[in-house]
Formats: sequence, C-alpha cells, structure tokens
Amino acid sequence: MTIALIILGAGMGTRMNSDMPKVLHHIAGAPMLVHAMKSGAALAPERTVIVAGHGADAVGKAAQAYDPDAVIALQCEQLGTGHAVAEAREALDGFDGDAIVLYGDTPFIRPETLAAMTAARLTHDVVVLGFEAADPGRYGRLIMQADQLDRIVEFKDASDEERAVSLCNSGVVAANARTLFELIDAVSNDNAAGEYYLTDIVGIARAKGMSATVVQCPEAETMGINSRAELAAAEDVFQTRARNAAMADGVTLTAPETVFFAHDTVVGRDTIIEPHVVFGPGASVETGATIRAFSHLEGCHVARGSVVGPYARLRPGAELAEDVKIGNFVEIKNAQIAEGAKVNHLSYVGDADIGARSNIGAGTITCNYDGVFKHKTTIGADAFIGSNTMLVAPVTVGDAAMTGSGSVITKNVPSGDLAVARARQDNKPGFATRLLEKLRAKKAKGNK
Ligand code: UD1
Ligand code: CA
Repeated sequence: MTIALIILGAGMGTRMNSDMPKVLHHIAGAPMLVHAMKSGAALAPERTVIVAGHGADAVGKAAQAYDPDAVIALQCEQLGTGHAVAEAREALDGFDGDAIVLYGDTPFIRPETLAAMTAARLTHDVVVLGFEAADPGRYGRLIMQADQLDRIVEFKDASDEERAVSLCNSGVVAANARTLFELIDAVSNDNAAGEYYLTDIVGIARAKGMSATVVQCPEAETMGINSRAELAAAEDVFQTRARNAAMADGVTLTAPETVFFAHDTVVGRDTIIEPHVVFGPGASVETGATIRAFSHLEGCHVARGSVVGPYARLRPGAELAEDVKIGNFVEIKNAQIAEGAKVNHLSYVGDADIGARSNIGAGTITCNYDGVFKHKTTIGADAFIGSNTMLVAPVTVGDAAMTGSGSVITKNVPSGDLAVARARQDNKPGFATRLLEKLRAKKAKGNK
C-alpha cells in the first residue's frame, strides 16, 4: 500500500510560552516535528506533507533539513484539526494511496504501531489510534458500538456518560486519502469550540455505512507536548528508552541515568560509556570503544577500540580511527586522527590530519584560525609533537618528524627532521642565589 503522511504542526503552542513554534522545540537534539517524521518514515511514505502555520518558514526549513522532499502546506488560520488536514489536499493531488495523519507535537509513536494501523486498514475504512488513559482529562473519547468505532466526542462536547469512557483518541488517523478528504468536506464547525474537528470524520464515515476501528497503543507513545514541563518529561521518556535500548544492544552504561543520547546516536556492542557522557546529534561509536566520564561527543565518529576522555570534547568532523586515544581536556574538531595516534592531554586539534601512531604532546594547539580564514594542519605518521607546540596553520609536519617542546611551528617540517622554534636557553651561573640574597637583605632592613 502506498502511503502519504500528513503531519499537523500549525498551532502556536501557547502554553510553551515561546517565540518559537511548538513543534520546533528539541527533544534529544532534534525538533519534535522531526521525531514525528522519523516515526512516519518507517512506513516509507511516498509523500510527506507538513501542515504549518505559526512560524511556517522555520517549520518548513526544519522539516526539509530532515527530508528535502517534504512538502509544506500552509494553514494561515488555525480553524481546527479537520481544517488543517484539508489544507494538505493540494499537496496530495492525484494521490490514491492511504493517508496517515500524525501530530507534530506527538513524537513517540512507534513504527510498529503505525504498521498495526496500516494492517487494520485492510479490513476497515477508517482506523484511529487509541489508548487507555490513566487520567483521560481533556482527550477526545472513542465511543465504540460492538466491534466498530462509532464516533469520537471531544471533551468539550461530551456528556457525563461519554466523559466516563477512558479509551481516548491519540489523534493519529489512517484512511484512503480520497476518502479522507471527502469525509473532511462534510465536517462542520458546529460544536463547543467552533472548530473543524478531524475527529468528526468517524461519525460521518459510519453514517455513510463505512467501517471504523481502533488500534490501541500504550499511553506513553501518544504523549503530546504542550508545555516546557511536558517537554522535559518527554526528554526523560526518550532518554530512558535510549539507555535501555543501548544496554539491550550490548553497551555498558556504568550509570545509565547520567548518560544523554541524541535522537540519532549509534553505539556499538561492548562499548563502555562511563558516567556523565553527553551525545549531541550525529555521533557514532563503534564496538569495543570506551567513552570515559564527562565527555561530550557531537557529529563525530569513533572507531573500535578507541578511548575518549575523561573530559574530552569531540566536535563535528572529528574522525577517530581504530585504537586512538583522546585524553582529558582535549578538543577535536574537523580532524582525522589515524589509527593508534594519541592526543592525551590539554590540546586543541582542529582542521587537521594526524597520521597513524603519532603522539601529540600535552598542550599542543593547532592555530587554525587567522581571524578570517581557517587553515589546515597536516601531521604524518609516527610523528612526535613536543608538549606545548603551537602549529600555526597552514603547516605540515612530515612522517617521523619531531617538534621541540614549546615550539611555535610556522614552517613545514620535512620527514625525519626535528624542528625547534623557541628561544635558546641561557644559564647564568649563581645568579639566582645572589639575587635572592639581595632581596632578602632588603626585606630585613624593612624596605619594601
Ligand atoms: C486533539 C483531538 C483529540 C485528541 C487530542 C490528542 C481534535 C478535534 N481533537 O485535541 O480528540 O484526544 O488531540 O492529543 O482533533 N493543529 C493545526 N491546525 C489547527 C489545529 C491544530 O495544525 O487548526 C495541530 C496542532 O499544531 C497540533 C495538533 O494539530 O500539532 C493537535 O491540535 P490540538 O489543538 O493540540 O488538539 P487537541 O485539542 O489536543
Ligand atoms: Ca494537544
């Protein structure tokens, strides 16, 4: 079955108290809208339509950064969820597969749940995702009649008897796209909120003799985010899931509750992650690596057997080959560190290539920025960079070359050479003793 996603995200999200549209607030380093798109992507949709209103430009940009083929449909006035879906009609012109409506503020629907909905579509015209709510609150209620879903009542419009129902509407709906738009055409705004309710399509479908059913999922999946407190709760839900998934995949987390993953973090089996490690987006760590405490990794790749940290920072473009060692207070950005190389203490390595087995001494800095442009540092294999070397880029240090500690290297160093670029040491015999005696004598006389 070919599928189109319609993801609603036009609302302002007043309760977020933010200048930014609600669906752009982040969970695990990605806008919540992207989480919804990722769940839907598991169905391999032929088209994805994002209905945007408030902050539509920014919403469109975020959506297309994840999926360049996503189409943005504008809903200028927010007249209700039914009206929002109707705005996707043009973008789905000529499409005759199934449409699945998702909410941009409901990020945790699992792909398996959506698959169960498409399976239920084989036997029913309209399929709604529902859940048993611990506290049904203001959710829409799903009213069953025998094995059919008869209608959905919004809380505002529900009788006391209907409000007592605990089977609630998640908002996710699946139907043939043409059928969906036909049903939406029949929706009116004659209700307590004066809105065009998407939920009314169920009653309309049943009146036309169509069939409707509910697929149920755990309440945690349908969690919607409306406030900063709910955003924090959602982050917690994501992190708990991600930690459990990592451990199930054979990753050791010494103190799981202190490790934070991004939405796309990949960690291989038998890797050890010590306490207080934070992953930003785009990090992957292969099998058998160790990420020591208090390290921050983002946009980087760590190959098998490497050790990172404690207190290391891997920034975008950091590529560590096998068995690399990155130690405490080291920052790596846009740099390839070849197999077996070591950068163990207090260094900044940016815009660089470091050859296999090279040792970068404590306090080494690649001076990559001249105030306007960035320049590259290239270090060959088996090189030895003395402690506190400043490598003023662009500069190349050849294979098996050395730099003396404290050097400021401004010229290329040929392979096998030693470069020393610092003032020569001059010892003055006995000078220190004589100077100290003089100063102490002065102090004894009471002079300052
Ligand atoms: C909706 C459902 C309710 C369900 C609940 C689950 C309706 C009428 N009600 O209620 O049955 O239990 O979700 O969370 O559908 N949106 C637009 N344009 C609009 C209105 C909404 O794009 O004109 C978007 C919002 O940005 C949001 C989503 O649709 O992403 C849901 O809208 P919201 O107003 O939060 O619906 P609820 O009142 O929560
Ligand atoms: Ca809502």
